[in-house]
Amino acid sequence: KVVYILNGPNLNLLGKREPEIYGHQTLDDVHQMCVAQAENDGLDIVFRQSNAEHDLIDWVQEAREAAHAIIINPAAYSHTSIAILDALSACTCPVIEVHVSNIHRREAFRHHSYVSQKADAVIAGCGVEGYLLALQRAATLLKES
Ligand code: DQA
Repeated sequence: KVVYILNGPNLNLLGKREPEIYGHQTLDDVHQMCVAQAENDGLDIVFRQSNAEHDLIDWVQEAREAAHAIIINPAAYSHTSIAILDALSACTCPVIEVHVSNIHRREAFRHHSYVSQKADAVIAGCGVEGYLLALQRAATLLKES
């Protein structure tokens, strides 16, 4: 089964930007960790990042056909993008939202995520381990289905 792991704007700088908030591991590290865990669970992953909202929308639409589950860290678009919410709402597979930081302990404008309206689960504040927790949850949901 295929799990799409989609990453929004500025996550290409993971490990380099604001390490006190986002930690020291890079998005490449996260990719490698996810590949290793997915292999254990017999899942195939498609791992992508873009700074452009339209790429994320196109990839969610692609995942609508190709994925059995979607893990998405929409980054700042979480707080602004009805378009990404709408794209996810067109999907029938499980959606798991990940935030590296605990958005609820940060500025008020980060407390609301449009994507959470559609997400089956939300993981925030677990650092990059949140991606592995999301994959674990996806594996459980896909075994059940
Ligand atoms: C983030 C939290 C967002 O508020 C922020 O805009 C990001 C990353 C996180 O992973 O903690 O870019 O989604």
